[in-house]
Amino acid sequence: MTAKLNVGVLGCGPIAQAGHFESCTKASNARLYAICDIADDLRQRMAATHAPEKSYPSYDEMLADPALDAVIIATSDAFHVPASIKALEAGKHVLCEKPVGVSLEEVLELERAVHRSGKRFQVGHMKRYDAGLQEARRFIAEEMGEVVALKAWYCDSTHRYAMTDAVQPLIVKSKNALKPKEDPKADLTRYYMLAHGCHLVDTARYFAGDIVAVTAHLSRDKGMHCWFVDVEFASGALGHLDLTVAVRMDWHEGFQIYGQNGSITGKTYNPWYYKTSDVDIFRERDGASYRVLGADGHFYRRQLEGFAHAILNDAPLTGAGIADGVASVRAMLAIARSAAEGRKVRLDEVSGAL
Ligand SMILES: NC(=O)c1ccc[n+]([C@@H]2O[C@H](COP(=O)([O-])OP(=O)(O)OC[C@H]3O[C@@H](n4cnc5c(N)ncnc54)[C@H](O)[C@@H]3O)[C@@H](O)[C@H]2O)c1
Repeated sequence: MTAKLNVGVLGCGPIAQAGHFESCTKASNARLYAICDIADDLRQRMAATHAPEKSYPSYDEMLADPALDAVIIATSDAFHVPASIKALEAGKHVLCEKPVGVSLEEVLELERAVHRSGKRFQVGHMKRYDAGLQEARRFIAEEMGEVVALKAWYCDSTHRYAMTDAVQPLIVKSKNALKPKEDPKADLTRYYMLAHGCHLVDTARYFAGDIVAVTAHLSRDKGMHCWFVDVEFASGALGHLDLTVAVRMDWHEGFQIYGQNGSITGKTYNPWYYKTSDVDIFRERDGASYRVLGADGHFYRRQLEGFAHAILNDAPLTGAGIADGVASVRAMLAIARSAAEGRKVRLDEVSGAL
């Protein structure tokens, strides 16, 4: 393998344009080797802009390229599992956008494929590469002792497109883009859980570990979807999650963690500002707080560098692995079922699709 990971990006849609192409071209240990999209107009325009070595209309042809080391799956959620399994079976490592899949059965099938392949598989939970969150996790593991309670919130803003349109590159669209048969936004309750809920659940698990059961309430009032979720962690810690789309205020995301020997509060910005979260860590022993600056807030590039580092150096994954992706799908299913049935739901009793 070369010193830099040869990456191929499947999909030239919004997330590739706003995050992955730039990440591949800026990464210290990876490069944009290939791009692939069935939509010729989109692919040709992205090839002209980002200058990959290869540009493929067919995913099978890209996977057959022996110089390709890894793929980033940047397609609609419904295509994540089949596209990931294809890549693993072709001997490629995979960084797959979140959520890893849309049903428990398909993500369990993917988990088996990952283990069979012996290749690296990471889910695109790029918040795990926010230097503020990383320092919080280090503090929890090394200094804070037990997590007693965690609250986390992820509230999209009614003003989010005014924010993101101002800072993202102009997103090019194509009529020829391949989309799933069912419009992912046809059912907004499902769409918000998959698109946003998976981030919130992953952040909670990153800090407090496995979730065993949830009790959720959903309000759909005044055009707002608001889930309040009581969470039982395997550790015994108490949890509360708030997923709201969309609040009538600025982007509102963050967390509070109460631990045995300290506490942490975090404010997270809309990711497209590339600004590390403001995370204040209070140590009981010296009665003082500190905050890392995290000057490099390019979570998407840092995520790719972490993934490439694990592959190139045969090191442990630092991002979310397949087990985290499966756990996240279980948690989203449990939250949806709990809200629908008005009862506590254990994660080991869920099945089916979101
Ligand atoms: N991590 C984040 O912050 C973040 C932000 C936004 C979106 N996402 C995720 O990114 C994913 C992609 O979102 P998007 O809006 O860019 O998707 P999209 O559907 O608009 O674009 C995907 C592109 O992939 C192409 N494609 C799909 N399957 C293909 C195939 N088999 N062969 C060739 N081309 C194929 C399509 O033609 C399309 O152009 C979603 O899962 C979404 O949840 C993540």
